[in-house]
Amino acid sequence: MAESTTDTAAAPGAQQATIVLAGATGDLGGRIAKHLLLRGANVRALVRAGSAAPAVVALREQGAAIIEVDFNNEAELTKACAGATCVVSALSGLREVIVETQTRLLQAAVAAGVPRFIPSDYCIDYTKLAIGSNRNLDLRREFAERLDKAPIRATSILNGMFTDLLTGQAPVILFNFKRVVYWGNADQPLDFTTTEDTAAFTAAAALDATTPRFLRVAGEVATIRGLQAVAGAVSGEPFRLFRVGGLGAFGTVIKVTKALMPTTDDVFPPWQGMQYLHNMFTGQPKLEPLDNARYPDIRWTPVREVLASREQVLA
Ligand SMILES: NC(=O)c1ccc[n+]([C@@H]2O[C@H](COP(=O)([O-])OP(=O)(O)OC[C@H]3O[C@@H](n4cnc5c(N)ncnc54)[C@H](OP(=O)(O)O)[C@@H]3O)[C@@H](O)[C@H]2O)c1
Repeated sequence: MAESTTDTAAAPGAQQATIVLAGATGDLGGRIAKHLLLRGANVRALVRAGSAAPAVVALREQGAAIIEVDFNNEAELTKACAGATCVVSALSGLREVIVETQTRLLQAAVAAGVPRFIPSDYCIDYTKLAIGSNRNLDLRREFAERLDKAPIRATSILNGMFTDLLTGQAPVILFNFKRVVYWGNADQPLDFTTTEDTAAFTAAAALDATTPRFLRVAGEVATIRGLQAVAGAVSGEPFRLFRVGGLGAFGTVIKVTKALMPTTDDVFPPWQGMQYLHNMFTGQPKLEPLDNARYPDIRWTPVREVLASREQVLA
């Protein structure tokens, strides 16, 4: 996986800043912790009993303070938030986590007098999407309504799709078949940012008291045709485009897939990933304007580098 080569400078005042981080044992959260520590912040990682031990050990070794909490206990959360300058959530889950657990964390942050809150959004611009078009993003919108009513300053980080997903999880670049699969228009601009770069930006934003309600970044804006060119250049073999159909047909396929699949607590069942791609292909959640230049020390990883790192792993 491509690593960010961010030349991190300690943010002014970072030495005094204490950031409370929920979800630090996760993929994005662990990277946010690393970047906060690189910037000189104190990191207080809230972990639940039973969180994976290796992740907790790694956080402690990097210098984070580990606080085991019961995420259902607001009093415990409030105590853990005391004195913090910002609460950052990188939790992942469905309603119970994104709406309910984050609400308890929000109430705790408010009760403890924390001035700022960054919710676990890290996605395309859900404010521009119709309700019902993406189950996971509906949950973020629902939490945002609560967040906007709370007496705390909020900043959501919107980063498009994690570029890393293009190396396998997102069914777009089919490396074995030398095809780039899409629905709709091959020239629609799409936003991609690596998990690492999203974490670096989130850490910088957590230490920046002047952030607006939304910050939008894209490590690279690429079209399907652009991905075709990059995949071909990186693998040394030409890729062909495969247009499955129009967006109306894609919407029907998603509905049928959802209806046929057994109900699951999986955060990312196949139909949810399809909803995400459908949203992106419509162009509605395109991020604009981009705040990429806000922290000039962050170097954005291009798609080419992410795909090339996959080739290196396979070589
Ligand atoms: N834009 C994109 O393409 C994209 C792709 C992937 C993810 N994301 C977003 O990035 C964010 C982080 O995702 P991730 O992939 O880093 O997730 P992850 O690796 O699954 O980590 C999830 C974190 O949430 C914690 N957690 C889950 N349920 C919890 C609960 N009930 N109570 C307390 N903690 C709980 C986990 O703790 P334990 O270690 O204890 O389980 C872990 O620390 C999410 O908002 C996700 O939707 C965006």
